[in-house]
Amino acid sequence: MNASIVLLPGDGIGPEIVREARKVLEAVASAHRHTFEFTEKLIGGIAIDETGDPLPQSTLDACLASDAVILGAVGGPKWSDPAAKTRPEAGLLAVRRRLGLFANIRPIVARNALIGASPLKASLVDGVDILMYRELTGGIYFGGSTASDDGTTVADSMRYSVGEIERIVRLAAEGARSRSGRLTSVDKANVLAVSRLWRKTTERVVQDEFPDLTLEHQLVDAMAMHLVTRPKDFDVIVTGNLFGDILSDEASVLPGSLGMLPSASLGASGPGLYEPIHGSAPDIAGRGIANPLGTILSAALALRHSLGLAAEADAVEDAVDAVLDGGLRTADIADGGRSVGTADMGDAVVEALR
Ligand code: IPM
Ligand code: MG
Repeated sequence: MNASIVLLPGDGIGPEIVREARKVLEAVASAHRHTFEFTEKLIGGIAIDETGDPLPQSTLDACLASDAVILGAVGGPKWSDPAAKTRPEAGLLAVRRRLGLFANIRPIVARNALIGASPLKASLVDGVDILMYRELTGGIYFGGSTASDDGTTVADSMRYSVGEIERIVRLAAEGARSRSGRLTSVDKANVLAVSRLWRKTTERVVQDEFPDLTLEHQLVDAMAMHLVTRPKDFDVIVTGNLFGDILSDEASVLPGSLGMLPSASLGASGPGLYEPIHGSAPDIAGRGIANPLGTILSAALALRHSLGLAAEADAVEDAVDAVLDGGLRTADIADGGRSVGTADMGDAVVEALR
């Protein structure tokens, strides 16, 4: 097949890890006789430096015209001045919003080779396989903010409409239906009105359209505890934008490193966006030691969800497992494996693919 893929390396370690994902995609293309055309575009801090805009129009246009977008990370201390007119993160939020990517899917899988790398007990982690659906274009991230005239009081609004809740719940429910049939919805319905709407809407959608599923509700504070005390009790989780952001970083301790976790952001139609869940890690940027596997696994999700290449996606995931089984580790995973840099890790995945 022919596919056009936009690469948005962004800031910090972004360029280093996206380079490895590209390598892997090129290897997939040549092994399976596909033609992937890559276009690299600016986003985030580097886009602010070069154009003044964290999401330049030409980046957005290229994304809209593509089959899939692969993003590294945005942000860094250079652009963190609270008085700055715009921030790198605004570019990421804008591309999510402009592409209509309301569903952020974060698989949290404890890979066999890394069971010992988690700070949690192996018995607790072994067998963890969670699929988290985070609503991505609504909630407090997009509810707008206001400030009093003297700037001493500021408010961000958490908003959800019934329609926004319905569409993410439907997607998560379909995910649950294709797996264990269990869906956990996370909210703060004991305090927030918006969470009570979330809960009511979720109840209705599941009752009317997915009566075969078992739905449970968890309050977000309790869920934060359950995720690390009994993670194996959960299969598919659905939650709002902010809770999903927080819980997915927490869940990353299960697979052993934040550097391992991929994500897929999908809309009703159009290209998906694929990015690791970690940030730009400015402290290690440019040193060639970042873990590229979260981005490589994100590229696998792009193959599966946007390009319809499920077998190729499986092959990339198997190659990652093979490399980890072989004992290679980047510096973020301190479990006594053989330590390699970013490029060597990417090369090893390409080698395992062959
Ligand atoms: C994530 C990140 C982003 C978010 C930041 C960089 C804006 O933390 O993708 O989880 O909060 O969504
Ligand atoms: Mg986050």
